[in-house]
Amino acid sequence: MALSVHRVNLKGRSLLTLIDFNAEEINDLIDLAADLKQKKQRGSREKLMEGKNIALLFEKPSTRTRCAFTVACTDLGAHPEYLGKNDIQLGKKESVADTAKVLGRMFDGIEFRGYSQETVQQLAEHSGVPVWNGLTDMYHPTQALADYLTIKEQKGDLTGLTVVYVGDGRNNVANSLLIVGSKLGVNVRIAAPESLYPNQEIATLAKQYAKENNCEIMITDNVDEAVKGADVLYTDVWVSMGEEDKFAERIELLKPYQVNMEMIKKTENEDVIFLHCLPAFHDTTTIIGKDIYEKYGLEAMEVTDEVFQSRHSFVFDQAENRMHTIKAIMAATIS
Ligand code: CP
Ligand code: NVA
Repeated sequence: MALSVHRVNLKGRSLLTLIDFNAEEINDLIDLAADLKQKKQRGSREKLMEGKNIALLFEKPSTRTRCAFTVACTDLGAHPEYLGKNDIQLGKKESVADTAKVLGRMFDGIEFRGYSQETVQQLAEHSGVPVWNGLTDMYHPTQALADYLTIKEQKGDLTGLTVVYVGDGRNNVANSLLIVGSKLGVNVRIAAPESLYPNQEIATLAKQYAKENNCEIMITDNVDEAVKGADVLYTDVWVSMGEEDKFAERIELLKPYQVNMEMIKKTENEDVIFLHCLPAFHDTTTIIGKDIYEKYGLEAMEVTDEVFQSRHSFVFDQAENRMHTIKAIMAATIS
């Protein structure tokens, strides 16, 4: 079955960082996702992956990414097989390369979420089938596609918009926002303490893409300067999966970077939208949220409940868009 808005051929490609995708290819995936979203809303499901089998490898927990891949597979007629961290030998008793070769003999595509970027690279290198990065310590590329689809839905043309990410500026979500935004002609600003700036390699790449695409990258510890004129304010957790011993130091460092109504006002843009990849610590209704309140007296961390629940917030559209973009990625790359 043909993909209606699909223009470029991505068959057989893996999606590991998006560094190797050009703007046309990324825009194509976003447009395809929008098209598949409309079709689903109209009740039509094209079985673009009929008879395919997809492996979903998770070393780290997930709500959105796991559910997005599972529902996308089911909608497209494919079978998803979830393989959690204790289900397979990956790297423990069997090398990543050998595991990849075995999975490639049985599955038509592999999703991987885990720690090391090296693991997802090796899976792609040795499996012979498309591999999709569902989050590593370095990148979260499927998230960035959903982010820019959500921004496009709210703001129209992405070119020339200003996306400001505030908080832990060197995490997977910030890295992918920088890489994808600078390829699409979006001004991306990172407001973070210096010790949490994006690494040199990512910053240099983003600046190079920005130069080619007539947009600007700003990396600063000055929140006021960064947020002024923002079209989008974006934040993520202060402590990512795998860094759970860092709460005390991150809270100390990142308190001035909390997204609150004062920060929204500082954008000087009535229509600024708020995004967050989720899960978010915006209140004390979680076990960790409660613990943080008891230990540090904070009712919220990276975003206040007021902003999270406000008219500025599009976080649940963003979460839904994970599914439509993941569907587009799988449909476009599966041979
Ligand atoms: N945003 C995101 O990746 O969410 P999950 O960790 O729930 O998959
Ligand atoms: N930076 C976060 C993103 C979660 C979706 C983490 O890695 O935990």
